[in-house]
Amino acid sequence: MSGIRIRGTGCSLPRQTVTNQDLSRMVETSDEWIYARTGIRERRRCVEESQCELALNAARAALEMAGASPADIGVCLVPTITPDYITPSTACMLQKELGMPEDTVCFDLSAACSGFVFGLHTAQALLAYSRRKYGLIVCSEVLSRITDYTDRGTCILFGDGAGAAVVEYSDRYAPMPSVLGARGDRESLYAPGIGRGEPPVLHMGGTQVFKFAVETVPECIRALLDRAGLTPEDVDQFVFHQANRRILERVMKKMGIPEEKVWMNMEHYGNVSSASTAIALDDAVRAGRLAPGQKALCCAFGGGLTWAGALVELA
Ligand code: UT7
Repeated sequence: MSGIRIRGTGCSLPRQTVTNQDLSRMVETSDEWIYARTGIRERRRCVEESQCELALNAARAALEMAGASPADIGVCLVPTITPDYITPSTACMLQKELGMPEDTVCFDLSAACSGFVFGLHTAQALLAYSRRKYGLIVCSEVLSRITDYTDRGTCILFGDGAGAAVVEYSDRYAPMPSVLGARGDRESLYAPGIGRGEPPVLHMGGTQVFKFAVETVPECIRALLDRAGLTPEDVDQFVFHQANRRILERVMKKMGIPEEKVWMNMEHYGNVSSASTAIALDDAVRAGRLAPGQKALCCAFGGGLTWAGALVELA
């Protein structure tokens, strides 16, 4: 039985910062309201950067930390809901730009904010069939493209950015435990696609999603820890989807997890959908909160409604 461990992480953020004050000039809101209700002060927004460029820079940073070359990559996955092109996939564009071999399995993956963890799970499964032992997961989002800046219920939350991880698959590692699910819900959080006759912007029932997250994330953590035969004390760092500080505070309270074990960076980047968890993991690693041999519990939730948790170990 083989499994994956994280070899390297990286991220890339657009230059422009949009503060709560900036948003208060666009919709009726305030820095006080946004910070108190979400924990967010600012987020990044692409002006000149493309989704593919962000992905490329995050991937390069993760490869560099891993000491891996594009030629080592057997599986390249790009979880995203805001690709530059419907086709070709961003993964195929990365294949060309980075120079990954033609038999690298490259595709984009749609699991909204749960995308990073869906990507880890899928990479582990596919690497079992690959001649190469490294996988590259690159979450890259330009949510500003599908954000309605007249809707104060959504535009305060979302930001742009990319986060990446290089994983190594080996028979020296136990399989990474993971728990994934979806509820077949189209109303709570959606953006219409081409041909729907509506602008392709995000619609969200904030309260429904909040409730869903506060119920589902603790269940997901419990299932994951049970599967691994561990307790919350055995986890070195919890790395959650950075949707809302209040959601994470409820989760910490329900599960008895101390705040110092939970990495939070939504204050600076907001909710970056699939990229949130990947950026938070990279941040935690680079801040020295996770070292080789340590365990992180990643858990995310979002459109679908999907949820996903994985217990990752750093190589
Ligand atoms: O990544 C996908 C996952 N997405 C999420 O996790 C989002 C989860 N949901 C949330 O984060 C929260 O529901 C929001 C931050 C979106 C909203 O916070 P809330 O505490 O649920 O507020 P609410 O929607 O219940 O609205 C409370 C009040 C309302 O006014 P009244 O009816 O009480 O007079 C809203 O109109 O706050 C008002 N409001 C605002 N006021 C100032 C809603 N948005 C704003 C705003 N600024 N931006």
